[in-house]
Amino acid sequence: MSELASESDKHRSELASESDRHRRELLVIKGVRLYGEGDPVDMLVADGVIADVGTGLEGPEAVDAHGLVALPGFVDLHTHLREPGREDTETIETGSVAAALGGYTAVFAMANTDPVADNAVVVEHVWRRGREVGLVDVHPVGAVTAGLAGQRLAELGTMARSEAAVRIFSDDGHCVADPLLMRRALEYTRGLGAVVAQHAEEPRLTAGAQAHEGERAARLGLAGWPAAAEEAIVARDCLLAKQVDARLHVCHVSTAGTVDVLRWAKARGTKVSAEVTPHHLALTDERLTGYDPVNKVNPPLRTASDVQVLREALAEGVVDCVATDHAPHAEQDKNCEWSAARPGMLGLQTALSVVVDTMVRPGMLDWRGVARVMSERPAQIAGLVDQGRPLAIGEPATLVLVDPRDSWVVRGADLASIAGNTPFEGMRLPGVVRMTLLRGRVTARRSTTGGGGT
Ligand code: DOR
Repeated sequence: MSELASESDKHRSELASESDRHRRELLVIKGVRLYGEGDPVDMLVADGVIADVGTGLEGPEAVDAHGLVALPGFVDLHTHLREPGREDTETIETGSVAAALGGYTAVFAMANTDPVADNAVVVEHVWRRGREVGLVDVHPVGAVTAGLAGQRLAELGTMARSEAAVRIFSDDGHCVADPLLMRRALEYTRGLGAVVAQHAEEPRLTAGAQAHEGERAARLGLAGWPAAAEEAIVARDCLLAKQVDARLHVCHVSTAGTVDVLRWAKARGTKVSAEVTPHHLALTDERLTGYDPVNKVNPPLRTASDVQVLREALAEGVVDCVATDHAPHAEQDKNCEWSAARPGMLGLQTALSVVVDTMVRPGMLDWRGVARVMSERPAQIAGLVDQGRPLAIGEPATLVLVDPRDSWVVRGADLASIAGNTPFEGMRLPGVVRMTLLRGRVTARRSTTGGGGT
């Protein structure tokens, strides 16, 4: 009894000092434009929330945000943090730093770790480590099948009921190819209030594939990854999700045909959502000419007309959100011959700038739209109640300040990730994340332009 009482006293005093700390971190953000709209305002941050919005607000610490745009913190539904197992390429700590510098306040860590996150022990480890680091909310994704082997379901209920409260299940990196297993996964996750995020790739059609199937792959002598391998699985899974009234999320949509399937499925009331990566919004298979494996990714870079359709679909909402598929790889796994290289690209620190370049600059999305596709929709899809919230008094101060006028040159070696495999190396990109706040605490701050940050 007394032991219990002292435990709870300790807990209470910890909570009290936590709230004192927040109170001390009273901050006034001066002259910021919310969602890039209207006149500049001041925003008072206290006790982890937006305490006031107005003009002439004062506080012990002021941040000059004239010319900056405030958006709700970004939520990434698709991040590979590589811990446990490949800490030589990324850890929960380095990935969290990269995420915060990229404007993210929540990330979903994919299950293809070693050991695989297919049980409560691993997902709880990821969850706790994310909390210890404390820069971004790290939510583990649970595997759909044991060991990602596609043979039998993982312990979905145990992961959902664990401390990590898993709400997204995915075998990403692999497709849940067996239609009966996929049906069962959808039925179980419906009961758990969760969603299956499918890596849509019919494996029989992509055996040995190295590049988008088309003229360029043929000329380069690379085995083709046909668009139909993605589209067939998305169509099948939309039919299954409708059949059992479950929610489906489609990872990294890459083809115009998939957009057609999503449009059709949504029109008939299927509970399907979808993400597109920054690299599929920006890059085409023209990149492959030099055989540089930094451009190897799964699904592969597609054609210019696919890219155009993906941008339009994101603007329209047929594709719901942007997700990075941040995939760090070791130097030896990228700087080698094309066929031996691992697929994947870094994404957390470049995502916002790529979205500005491909969507905001051409006038396809305004800042409200950026908030929708990078924060609000992903938070809704994942069922997060305290992320993707409106920038308003009383709401959590979980937000990002972006400088829309500035630009920076990407240098893989300067990024916070351990790996450096960015396809945007040496490119000047518009839009700089100046500051990220998670529940009132500054998690990233960048005053000068350049790959790194403070
Ligand atoms: O390019 C990719 N890399 N696509 C995936 O689906 C998996 C990821 C990885 O884990 O490296």
